[in-house]
Amino acid sequence: MRSACNTTGLYVHVPFCDGKCAYCAFYSVRYRPALADRYLDGLERELEKSLPLAPETIYIGGGTPSVLSVRQIDRLCRLLQTQVATRRLVEWTMEINPGSGDAEKAAVLAAVGVNRVSLGAQSFDDRILKTLGRRHAAADTVKVVAILRAAGIVNIGLDLIACVPGCTRALWRKTLRQAVALAPQHVSVYALTNEEGTRLNRLLGQGLAALLSEEAQLAMLDLAETELTQAGFGRAGFGRYEISNYAQSGFECCHNVACWRGEEYIGLGPAAASHVGLKRWTNRPNVSAYLAALEAGRNPPRDVEELTPALKRQEQVIFGLRMAEGIATDIASEYKQAFDSLRADGLVDLRAGRWVLTARGRNLADYVAVELMR
Ligand SMILES: C[S@@+](CC[C@H](N)C(=O)[O-])C[C@H]1O[C@@H](n2cnc3c(N)ncnc32)[C@H](O)[C@@H]1O
Ligand code: SF4
Repeated sequence: MRSACNTTGLYVHVPFCDGKCAYCAFYSVRYRPALADRYLDGLERELEKSLPLAPETIYIGGGTPSVLSVRQIDRLCRLLQTQVATRRLVEWTMEINPGSGDAEKAAVLAAVGVNRVSLGAQSFDDRILKTLGRRHAAADTVKVVAILRAAGIVNIGLDLIACVPGCTRALWRKTLRQAVALAPQHVSVYALTNEEGTRLNRLLGQGLAALLSEEAQLAMLDLAETELTQAGFGRAGFGRYEISNYAQSGFECCHNVACWRGEEYIGLGPAAASHVGLKRWTNRPNVSAYLAALEAGRNPPRDVEELTPALKRQEQVIFGLRMAEGIATDIASEYKQAFDSLRADGLVDLRAGRWVLTARGRNLADYVAVELMR
């Protein structure tokens, strides 16, 4: 896959959820209508400070953007539609949680030009959803997919979480098949990770839950690859274009591909990161501090990092290698020795002038990254 996603992206972080999932350490606070209105005021100010912007992709993520009211979603989208130059826009994604997507919200999204939805399905088994602390049922996902399609949003991605305690191989296969039955354009498969400060982390610490062994995890991820790449509904199956991401041909997430290729992006909202040239800055994950600064006419508090050209290349190599397209040998020339040794170990291969991970290398991607960072 070599898609044309050499784009400048705009990311908007909506820091609200209707509760906290057991495993999640992403920044979010509980949704409150008045706080969300203030957040939109703040966002408008931050956007004004960032203009002019002419992104090729917009990604509204979170948190749970769909927890906003219809009026708030309309305001957020119209703000972007009017302030940002949209002539170059090829992809506009919004994350939706199955429990908070409805027909009115879908109609607003379609009307302003949102053409892709990433849906946090996570599992199609209600007991596993409960273990994850999700607040939706599998039937909600099925319903929302139909609502989105009826509204005219045809490009739908589903997020799934693998390796959840209690999710047997048979249950996982069922979830994968139910996902495929919805004919999504894109599927992301993340293995459950143990994040500090989460409920899951506490349960694991107390021995009240246990993660799968590394071997069992790889077997679950292999099963996902087999089920998804073989899935056909009139077309070929999904391509695994990045370690955790599968898409029907032409439906790779342009916004993410560009980020993985090291392209520039601007992030707005608390906890959002931006990357321009060698500079990277991340808004602090604190909605109160974010609002206080913008209400006083200042930029939100940020952590700024200046990359060296060598560090930037290292990131490009490590992230680029996660994609099936791999990384051009000329970008990676200073890594030749490391690549040669990884190739001797059967972890990478050279294909049409690009370094790519082998199947074994994909399973050991973290080890490969460590070897390249030495
Ligand atoms: C931050 S979430 C935002 C999307 C949306 N709020 C949702 O819950 O679907 C992005 C993706 O990361 C996944 N994720 C977050 N924490 C994770 C973890 N500890 N292990 C695996 N996946 C995780 C979520 O399940 C979701 O699919
Ligand atoms: S996984 Fe999504 S819904 Fe759950 S707490 Fe994290 S951001 Fe919120």
